[in-house]
Amino acid sequence: MSSEIIQLIAQDVRSCTLCGLAAGRTRAVPGEGPADAKIILIGEGPGYHEDRQGRPFVGQSGQFLDDLLAMAGLARADVFIANVVKCRPPQNRDPLPDEVAICTENYLYRQIEAINPQVIVTLGRFSMSLFLPGERIMRIHGQPRKVESRLIVPMLHPAAALHQPQNRPLIEADFRSLPAILARAEAEQAAARPSPARPMPDDDRPLEQLSMF
Ligand code: URA
Ligand code: SF4
Repeated sequence: MSSEIIQLIAQDVRSCTLCGLAAGRTRAVPGEGPADAKIILIGEGPGYHEDRQGRPFVGQSGQFLDDLLAMAGLARADVFIANVVKCRPPQNRDPLPDEVAICTENYLYRQIEAINPQVIVTLGRFSMSLFLPGERIMRIHGQPRKVESRLIVPMLHPAAALHQPQNRPLIEADFRSLPAILARAEAEQAAARPSPARPMPDDDRPLEQLSMF
């Protein structure tokens, strides 16, 4: 069951000391949401309030994230919310490359695998770079890209939109487009699945018949 895997990963995160960020944290923030969520949102790392509570996006940018989700017709309980690094970097500095590498290999990628979402929304450039390296967020935000059968939707970080008001309409428009993007992802996955009326030629049919194809 993927919910058990998600719980096990969260347990490991809470006691993790694999990178230097462990030393400065109050609580690690594994992430939360339904184990069968169709959408994962990935932020950068815990801030002050997240570090104290052990939960993602509970500070000011979290309140804004709730507003943004509402614009997409979504509630927090509909999505899984995670971060690139699970422990707060000192003074909210950028996570270092080895911290990102260690944490994502051990936790984030396993969370994604267990949840198997159709859509991954990256919030900010660190998160985007995991899936779309070398891209520029201001150029590609809001544009879904297929990466290994999932749609990656790069978005600005909510904190960046809060602190730079001119970015607000951009991130709001991107969230409003999310239902249509999810519908596209679902349609594409349905089309890729073998339909019951036309089985894929791999099961019960005799080999001679298969060879005609
Ligand atoms: N910013 C993030 O990137 N993640 C959080 O969990 C909170 C704020
Ligand atoms: Fe472990 Fe990630 Fe925290 Fe580093 S940031 S200590 S790898 S959970």
